Order: sequence, then structure tokens, then C-alpha cells
Amino acid sequence: MTTSSPPGIAADFLATVTGAAYADDPYPFLRRLRDEAPAVRTNAGIWLVSRYDDVRAGLRDPRLSCDLGRLTAYDEYFRTRGIDARFPLPLNALDAPDHPRIRSAMSHEFVPQAVDAMRPAIDAAVAEVVGALPDRGEIDLVADVAYPVPIAVIGRLFGLPRADWPLLERWSRAFGAASDPDALLSDAQRDAAAEATREAGDYFGRLLTRRRREPTGDLMSRWLAAHRAERTMTLAELLVNGVFLLIVGHHNTVSLIGNGMLALLRHPEQLDRLRVDPALMTGAVDELLRYDSPVQTATRVTTGEHRVGDVTIPAGQPVMLLVGSANRDERAFPDPDRLDVDRPGANRNLGFGRGAHACVGGYLARLETAATLTALLRARPGLALAGAPRRAVPSFSLRALTALPLRVDRAPHSSR
Ligand code: HEM
Repeated sequence: MTTSSPPGIAADFLATVTGAAYADDPYPFLRRLRDEAPAVRTNAGIWLVSRYDDVRAGLRDPRLSCDLGRLTAYDEYFRTRGIDARFPLPLNALDAPDHPRIRSAMSHEFVPQAVDAMRPAIDAAVAEVVGALPDRGEIDLVADVAYPVPIAVIGRLFGLPRADWPLLERWSRAFGAASDPDALLSDAQRDAAAEATREAGDYFGRLLTRRRREPTGDLMSRWLAAHRAERTMTLAELLVNGVFLLIVGHHNTVSLIGNGMLALLRHPEQLDRLRVDPALMTGAVDELLRYDSPVQTATRVTTGEHRVGDVTIPAGQPVMLLVGSANRDERAFPDPDRLDVDRPGANRNLGFGRGAHACVGGYLARLETAATLTALLRARPGLALAGAPRRAVPSFSLRALTALPLRVDRAPHSSR
């Protein structure tokens, strides 16, 4: 069966996902999708695939292309975000043979052994950020903790001067706000992303020139040395992927720290389990990633007919594989709307993707999140929500808090 006109739930897609209620809690809508229309074309012209097995299979299927440039509408998408058509696309938008060539040049910096060597830098960043919190009163977890830790780690990896770190936060807020399909965005969001792309590209271009003249042993200097020795990446590829890594290297980790803390504060009994037994933290990070995934979608283009159950998606169609929905699928996770920091099999979640494009920085993100939450819980037993969390609206592709007001008294608080 090929569905060309969307059934009820998908016909309401645009109105639903641009509303504040969806930003607040997308999971009832995603459950309805899984139950009523697990593969469906929406009124935004995009197909949605929402069940765990289908999302997992889609992520691993090389016939689903990452090259969104195949879609005419996406030429416009890149152009309106300031991405110059003469430049190569970043790693996540490439297929073979470019994809494995560039991925292997980039990813060895993020294998567990290399990331374990960053542990002292991660611990130092966490200690500094948590140590700077006031003894009592209110903080914004997003601005005061969740951003500073991953930005310090990726900023140091690239050898960026500390004074420039706030630039990363500004760019990543602009990119994050514009990661949805065009139909969901305002002109202002697109303009801000285009401006951020230009600024980040210029900044990185200058960095590249400096490192070519004077290598410092940072990640960019190592990439340049490899470029001279093996020519695996062109300089343009190096620039584009440098900017890409700078942003993805912190943006979603910020969201995992924020979403994770919020989920724990809303489930005080789970928070207490972590306080009593910090050894649960590693598995808990997988459960937090499953429970409220920062990256909710992975976008692909069909290169031929793609079957999902009894639905056939024609060739040349944009498809969003709904990772966040898959992670709440009762067919894969019993009682999926319950947070359980000790859930068996939580690491089967698809929050870091799967297959050839699986997240390069998953191990680093886990480590940073675990270190930050552990230090925060230890240093501030009196943590409590101090107001309503704020989210970017609309937001279909990413789940990111823009603010999370917390009380951080050193003494435990009586009313949580
Ligand atoms: C909690 C934090 C993070 C989450 C939830 C996350 C999630 C994801 C997901 C779902 C994908 C796959 C997208 C797809 O298949 O289309 C992905 C790809 C990617 N991630 Fe992450 N990520 C996180 C942190 C990081 C960090 C810290 C880095 C780098 C240091 C990073 C680098 C990348 C790269 C380079 C890709 C593209 C891989 C490819 O296309 O081959 N990510 N990430």
C-alpha cells in the first residue's frame, strides 16, 4: 500500500508539532503515530517512521541516503542556512564512498581509548563549573552547567582561546533552532542559522590558517598533519567538518545533561537511587538518553522503493526515522514511559543512531554527562526545580531545553 494522502494524525502533523504542547511533551503524539500510522506521509511532505524495529532497520539501510541534496527542496534548505553550494557537505550528509573516507579520518580521535585520555580535562571542566556554583540560591542549569562543561572539553580539544568559547554557545543555539525541516521554521530562525554558518566558517578558516603556520598539537593541527601526509581530507572538507564537529561536539550533550537532570528531578525516587548508589550512573545515562532523546530524528532520502510493514515509500522521498519515538516503543522497552535508572537493556536505545552513521561522539558524550551529573548530585544534595523549564518552540528534530531554573542549596530541601 502506498499512502499519498495522509490519515488524520499525519494531516495534523504541522499544526501539532509547531505547538507548545508538543514541545512540552511529544510522547503522546508519537505513541499515536506508532499505533495508528507507523509509516506515513505527513502534510509537510515528509514521511515518518516511528516503530523501534523499523527505525533501527532504516538507520542500518544504505539504500536510505543521507545526501539530502538529492531533494530539490533541500538545495533551498542548505542555501537558506548559508551553506555554500561549492562547499562539501559535512560527514552526516554524505554517502559512500566519501562518507567512510572522511569518517575514518575524523573518528579515531573519539574512540574510547582516545576519550579516556581526555578524562582529566573532563574532570577539571566539571570541577570548575560545579565549584563556581553559588552556595545557595537559583541557577539556570542550561547556561551555568550544561553548556560550560562540553564547551570547555571541545574548546580545549580544538585549542580555542577561552575568550572565544561563548561564540560556540551562540552558534549552536542558532543551528539548533534551525535543525527542523523548513516548513516548521520562521525566516528569523533561518537567517540566524545562515549568519551563524558564515561566522563559524570565517572563524574556522582563520583558525586553519593559523594552525597551518604554527601547529600546536591540538585536533586541528593533527588533522592538518594527516592531510599533508595522506591527503585523506581536502582542506575544504577539513574546514566544513571542523565547524560541524565543533557544534555537534557539544550541542546535544548540553541537551542530554539538561533533559536528564529534568527527568531525574521529576522522578525523585530515581534521583535518590543515584545518590545512594553512584555506580548506577553509567547505565542511568543510557536510560536518560532513551527516556528523552536530545536527537529525535534522523533524516534520509529513499533511493528506491522502501517498504515498512505494508507501506511502500516511493523513491526520492524524504524520510524521518523517529529515534525518540523508537526509544519509547513498548514493543522494544517494557513500560517505556517509566524512568528506571537501572533498566535492563537501556543501552539498546537508538539515541546515538546505529549503523554507518552512528554517533562518533557517543562515548565522549556519555562520559561528560555522567561526570557532570555525578558531581552535581554529590555537591548539591538540595537540588530542586525552581521554575518551569523552557524549550525552543517549534522543535521536532531536537529536544533541547533553553533554560532550567534550579535551586542549588547545599543542604537538602524539604519540599521537592
Ligand atoms: C548526547 C549527545 C549526543 C547525541 C544524543 C548524539 C546523537 C547523534 C545521532 C542520533 C547521530 C546519528 C544521526 C543520523 O544517523 O542521521 C549522530 C551522529 C554524529 N554525531 Fe552525535 N550525538 C551526541 C554527541 C556527539 C558528540 C560529543 C560528538 C563529537 C565529539 C558527536 C559527533 C557526531 C558525528 C560526527 C556524527 C555524524 C556521524 C556520521 O554521519 O557518520 N556527537 N549523533
